[in-house]
Amino acid sequence: MAAMHDETVYKDPDAFWPERFLPPENAQDSSRFAFGFGRRVCPGEGVAQATLLCMVVRVLAVFNIAKARDEYGKDVEPALLWSSGLTSPPHQFKCKIVTRSPEAMKLVEEARDG
Ligand code: HEM
Repeated sequence: MAAMHDETVYKDPDAFWPERFLPPENAQDSSRFAFGFGRRVCPGEGVAQATLLCMVVRVLAVFNIAKARDEYGKDVEPALLWSSGLTSPPHQFKCKIVTRSPEAMKLVEEARDG
């Protein structure tokens, strides 16, 4: 955790700011730490990274993911709360996930029904 919150590498390390990994910031990609180091490094990293990329791309191709709205139609800001443990997923938060188009809906149904 400390390595992934090193302020000399990551400006404002606790802020949710994924753009830090894009130019011009280009902070170090901390996802590699998860695969270990040296002679015991995970040999499946390539498979895992490629599988994750495919999964994320498939989701983004068919869904719009946005903040939830309250009863007045205002965006609900998710609280940035994380659980701690071996991995550190965010606490549950509401959001709005909608298919991008009727064609996207058809793709989702096809994937669901095999
Ligand atoms: C997000 C997915 C994955 C993560 C976070 C991950 C992480 C790790 C970590 C931390 C280690 C231990 C390194 C150590 O002992 O210091 C490891 C070992 C290993 N991983 Fe993965 N791994 C992932 C996916 C995979 C996949 C997809 C495969 C195979 C296709 C795989 C195969 C292995 C093997 C065989 C070892 C033992 C290496 C050895 O001790 O020689 N892993 N992995």
